[in-house]
Amino acid sequence: MPKPSLDEIPNGRGVLVRVLRVGVDGTDKEINAAEYGAAPDGYDFLVIGHEGFGQVEAVGAAVTELKPGDFVVATVRRPGTSIYDRIGTSDMTTDDVYFERGINLRHGYLTEYYVDDADFIVKVPKGLSEVGVLLEPLTVVEKGVTQACEIQRRLRVWHPKKAAVTGAGTIGLLAALVLRLRGLDVTVFGQRPAPYRNSELLAQIDARYISTKTTSVIEGAAEYGPFDVIFEATGFSPIVFEAMQALGKNGALVLSSVTGGDRHVDVPSDMINLKFVLGNKVVVGTVNANREYFERGVQDMALAEAEYAGWLGQLLTHPVRGLENYSELLQTLTTAKDAIKVYCEVAPLGAPALRLHSDVDVAAAVSV
Ligand code: BGC
Ligand code: ZN
Repeated sequence: MPKPSLDEIPNGRGVLVRVLRVGVDGTDKEINAAEYGAAPDGYDFLVIGHEGFGQVEAVGAAVTELKPGDFVVATVRRPGTSIYDRIGTSDMTTDDVYFERGINLRHGYLTEYYVDDADFIVKVPKGLSEVGVLLEPLTVVEKGVTQACEIQRRLRVWHPKKAAVTGAGTIGLLAALVLRLRGLDVTVFGQRPAPYRNSELLAQIDARYISTKTTSVIEGAAEYGPFDVIFEATGFSPIVFEAMQALGKNGALVLSSVTGGDRHVDVPSDMINLKFVLGNKVVVGTVNANREYFERGVQDMALAEAEYAGWLGQLLTHPVRGLENYSELLQTLTTAKDAIKVYCEVAPLGAPALRLHSDVDVAAAVSV
């Protein structure tokens, strides 16, 4: 790919970003297996990578909020045409076709440089640069939790005390973190028997880990519930119906797994429906994240570093150095059993990035 230029973005709002790190996840796995995603018009390939982290190299004349040297993460979805897109909430689009960088119809960030509009680029403070590549997955959690809180305003008063998370992968761990940072008692359900890396990470933030090999979600609810909120992040759709049964009265169940398969299960539908009706319960699906959730994610990262210093960094289990090693990157993503976050180190974090860009700058520098 040719190096992009600021002129590609209208109104002087361009930001040229040098990519430092790019995380990969289940979505990339599906794209790589040709089960999901599409190339942009005029291309027969898609540059993947939607979990970017980089450093600003240059900004257009109308960009006041970012400057060269700033660490940044770009959002993933770009606006379509629905009313939700037009008010800055493209994550809520009702359009059938959506544009997501690195996923659908727009190239992603697994490249040396990208350029985009400053409106879609969020600053990450220097002190979070080591963990900045986790921001995009964190935004998925931020949106889910924020949506649950918004929905629960229906209750006039909602003081959630106990939460459950199904799934102890990257999203499950981040959901547990965010819920702990909100002061909730958190129980995480995963398949693997404890102890293992993820259960130990959960212990560090005082979240309870339960293996569904010994205790089902419903049994866990009887012991550690009632759950005011459940965040589902397993990627295994049958567990949704168990989570529905484990949800407490007035509770909210947040679904975040993108399940592209064709699984069918039998469920006790009368009972689930009855308890939902009699318990005023809610289930909500959530996908993607707009700028607001990226900003909230940055705040929670800072809070996490203050409360559980070094915890986020432990999620960065599988670095793969260099864009040229993309096949190793995808290999690690598809085969590493104990990986939490697999990511590409496109360029080292500490390299000098501040360079002078215009003749004016150079002249100014020389005359000082
Ligand atoms: C990304 C989201 C995206 C979703 C569906 C996820 O992996 O984090 O931003 O909306 O995939 O394409
Ligand atoms: Zn993702």
